[in-house]
Amino acid sequence: MMHKANSEQPNQFRTVSLREVLQAMPKVDLHRHLEGSLRLETLAEVAYEHGVDLPSYDIEELRPLVQMVESDPYDFHHFLEKFKLLRRFYSCREAVERVAYEAVADAAKDNVQYLELRFSPASLAMAQDFSLDEVTEWVIQAVHRAQQDYQITVGLIVSILRDFGHEVAEHVTEVAIAYRRQGIVGLDLAGDEVRYPGKPFAKLFHRAKAEGLGITVHAGEAMGPERVHEAITLLEADRIGHGVRTIENSDVLQLVLKRDIALEVCPTSNLQTGVVSSLGMHPLRDLYRLGVHVTLNTDDPSVSNTTLTDEYVVAIQHIGLTMIELKNIILKGIQAAFLPAREKARLEKRLTRALGLETPSRFRWRFWE
Ligand code: HPA
Ligand code: ZN
Repeated sequence: MMHKANSEQPNQFRTVSLREVLQAMPKVDLHRHLEGSLRLETLAEVAYEHGVDLPSYDIEELRPLVQMVESDPYDFHHFLEKFKLLRRFYSCREAVERVAYEAVADAAKDNVQYLELRFSPASLAMAQDFSLDEVTEWVIQAVHRAQQDYQITVGLIVSILRDFGHEVAEHVTEVAIAYRRQGIVGLDLAGDEVRYPGKPFAKLFHRAKAEGLGITVHAGEAMGPERVHEAITLLEADRIGHGVRTIENSDVLQLVLKRDIALEVCPTSNLQTGVVSSLGMHPLRDLYRLGVHVTLNTDDPSVSNTTLTDEYVVAIQHIGLTMIELKNIILKGIQAAFLPAREKARLEKRLTRALGLETPSRFRWRFWE
């Protein structure tokens, strides 16, 4: 048979880029906010159709209002401001269901195989005075539908926003507990860590934990390791959102190591909130090599204009993780998931195989043979 010209050689000779390898890799995301995962096209389209009062319906004009762009300062409060305009958008059931469905679809297209998607019922409810129960039901239904259409497993986490006060937080906790058999796997504390300490929310987190929910708390992001200590000892956190500033205090570091607390690290978000001065300075590699249970996540894909593939590229190219370290971190994600033990073991087995991390049989100690 005649050989084709060089430019038309069959696929096996094509150079595959790092991005393509990482895009194809099965992934785990434990820290992704629904409110930070809206497609700009959907935002413009739904707002226009349903008469939501936005400053513009043009995607490029909306972009700097809801996404970190080049002219934005890298600052925690500035970052959180982007969510305020977005709260106007949740104008009807269709809008809430559509964004929840698309958030799962987008994760699946990025080859995320296990996703924990968190949402703030109070943020989704406030524009139209919806009840916290109804918005929660809409999210659950849409996510359930998306799980049937795509190859992905999703656990939902309910977020309390520190800024909304104790009364709302109490109500949100009740909702999280009430829907725990319908896909809610955890309770989170998010929002302004600088102005609002975690301590006043402690009782709510104890109650959620007693009801079997996983506990995760944003801490050690804009504030120092003392907030990580507070989250673990007072709020009984199983995992910490970000927590990267743990590295600044050896006592807190020892506590995190001793209790095997997983840190949900989100590098691009950390850059944009001013937690790290550059991606090259990010402590993820040091934390990993110190033996901390680190996981790698997106936080807010649309606000940060990132994907989990992008975060994996950053981890290799800027942070200096090796491919094998990255794969181990993916597995650490499953090990820290708010899943029943059996389901966790099943997913861990599947991912271990898909990532090529199985111990080759010739190295296995087969004493029964
Ligand atoms: N910190 C606190 N609250 C948030 C964040 C964050 O990084 N992203 C979305 N809500
Ligand atoms: Zn977050």
